[in-house]
Amino acid sequence: MYLWFKWIHILAVISWMCGILYLYRLLINHRERGTSSPDNHELLKGMEYRLYRYITRPAMLVSIAAGSGMIWLNPEMLNTGWLQVKLLAVVLLIVSTLYASHLNQVAAVNPTDLPSSKNLRWANEGPTILMMIIVWMVVFKSF
Ligand code: HEM
Repeated sequence: MYLWFKWIHILAVISWMCGILYLYRLLINHRERGTSSPDNHELLKGMEYRLYRYITRPAMLVSIAAGSGMIWLNPEMLNTGWLQVKLLAVVLLIVSTLYASHLNQVAAVNPTDLPSSKNLRWANEGPTILMMIIVWMVVFKSF
């Protein structure tokens, strides 16, 4: 059962990462090209909505559920430093995902109300760096 949870967990975190990294890219394009034509705006608005609603959010929820399932089966893991740091980084990743969802709503109304594309690029670095910390912690389990 533990390995079933881990299999589902790894599939879900891959989808979550794909969704959140692509979502910020779409938002950057929306900020830079969303005002140039109504077609661009409508196209990007639809893509952001579907990517978040049907991939990113469900994948995030399944990642959390399967990860929690493994902890439920092996609660001693909560006393380990690697999982504590991993979960802290995961909380920040959830915040970054909810922030992207908020930006989706802003972009849908008026893309010029989005942060500058430079700041959106910085925001896009967050999930990448957090992913590296999370996977490092769970693979090396160094403390
Ligand atoms: C609340 C969310 C999460 C929880 C509770 C959680 C918890 C866990 C637990 C308990 C394991 C099993 C460790 C083991 O048996 O060695 C695990 C494995 C793993 N987690 Fe997570 N995790 C979460 C989110 C994430 C995220 C966001 C990522 C990637 C960005 C991730 C990547 C992995 C990987 C790659 C493994 C497999 C490691 C291995 O097989 O050695 N997890 N996770």
